[in-house]
Amino acid sequence: MAKDKTIYTCNACGGSTPRWLGKCPNCGAWNSLIESVPEAASGGKNRLSSPQGYAGLANAQPVTPLSAIEAQDVARTPSGIEELDRVLGGGVVEGGVVLIGGDPGIGKSTLLLQAMDALHRAGLPTLYVTGEESGAQVALRSRRLGIDGSQVNLLAEIQLEKILATVEATQPAVVVIDSIQTTYSDQLTSAPGSVAQVRECAAHLTRMAKSTGVTVILVGHVTKEGALAGPRVLEHMVDTVLYFEGDTHSPHRLIRAIKNRFGAVNEIGVFAMTEKGLKGVSNPSAIFLSQHSEPVPGSCVMVTLEGTRPLLVEIQALVDSAGPAARRLSVGLDKDRLAMLLAVLNRHAGVACADQDVFVNAVGGVRINEPAADLAVMLSITSSLRGKPLPKGFFAFGEVGLAGEVRPAPRGQDRLKEAAKLGFTVAVVPKANVPKKAIPGLTIHPVERVDEAINVVRAIN
Ligand code: TYD
Ligand code: MG
Repeated sequence: MAKDKTIYTCNACGGSTPRWLGKCPNCGAWNSLIESVPEAASGGKNRLSSPQGYAGLANAQPVTPLSAIEAQDVARTPSGIEELDRVLGGGVVEGGVVLIGGDPGIGKSTLLLQAMDALHRAGLPTLYVTGEESGAQVALRSRRLGIDGSQVNLLAEIQLEKILATVEATQPAVVVIDSIQTTYSDQLTSAPGSVAQVRECAAHLTRMAKSTGVTVILVGHVTKEGALAGPRVLEHMVDTVLYFEGDTHSPHRLIRAIKNRFGAVNEIGVFAMTEKGLKGVSNPSAIFLSQHSEPVPGSCVMVTLEGTRPLLVEIQALVDSAGPAARRLSVGLDKDRLAMLLAVLNRHAGVACADQDVFVNAVGGVRINEPAADLAVMLSITSSLRGKPLPKGFFAFGEVGLAGEVRPAPRGQDRLKEAAKLGFTVAVVPKANVPKKAIPGLTIHPVERVDEAINVVRAIN
């Protein structure tokens, strides 16, 4: 069978050439050409510039006022794995496409195999397509998970057309593609995993999901920079994007919803990797604390609240005299934000780190995206610089602005209560977050500015 001819399209300007070139002949961008299938439509763009108007090109379509359209609830099936359902917004949605990304070895295949088994037991026929492992390897994993009697259908295949044909023939309700990077289409000549292949395969699978109502779950690899490998367009195409995060050396794993058309974003699910697969952690608030018997310099606990549950996370900082070029490194926190906080510390609190290396780490491999971590980051840096630990039972949260002001964090009361429940006794928080009614066992120091926070800590130490 003759293959359809492919073209190369520029990522930057959209121009196309018949051959691959290092530089786009249309806009001059380097390395921006990717292989793609030409649009089948005849005529192309030029038809639309017809001076006779558009009526000759297509018939006008009827329009409907929004109020006349009945809103339909989506049909959801809970997977029975509570922490996964939480990030999905209640379960898998008919015709929904979920993309799940994460580092190698973090547990994507494990979780999906467990979820497929649970869904199958709930009465949904499922198909697990594996392109990375053989059927025997998946069977071995299922034995480890204690689900070797599972009725989940397995297909070891990487060619898209065969996968689509199998789905059509076996009619499952949920399909897992593990992974989208190993899947390839006959239509393209480029290697599996290339941008063009990933995009093309994901587009076909999405179309299939929408037209047949099958739920499709795509496993995606993550690049060294932490983004999903393949084009950004993948994230736009799907309904839900989930990221698996956590340190492979520690047992805890987080799943975060980055985008969800059928539920809330920033909801997180927490798991622990055990000998028998992933187990949900329903009360995760204290898992990201390292247990020091006595307070140590450079450590400050914060309460982060993403989704519905507050989590206590220890922020560690190490400030050490630097060589000619001072380094700023952060793990689990935004590096640019760290640079900004150091500038604010210098300018508004008189704490200078210009000639120091600064390392900051969120314990347990958790990623903190919310600015409420600012105050804890600053206090841990100051603590490390001075070599003085923060008081026992201390925590802090609050966003810090460029003018040195401390801004309130959303739902401060929930954060304070959770920390008090876990036995924390002293807090430095933004003034607006102080509750009207005192929380038993908790001393709260309200602050409005960074220098004030640093002085308060010095005074209570
Ligand atoms: P896996 O699901 O293969 O990761 P991914 O698909 O994201 O690459 O997870 C593999 C890791 O999990 C591997 O290092 C072994 C570990 N593991 C357990 O600790 N317990 C288990 O029950 C299973 C199945 C895996
Ligand atoms: Mg895998």
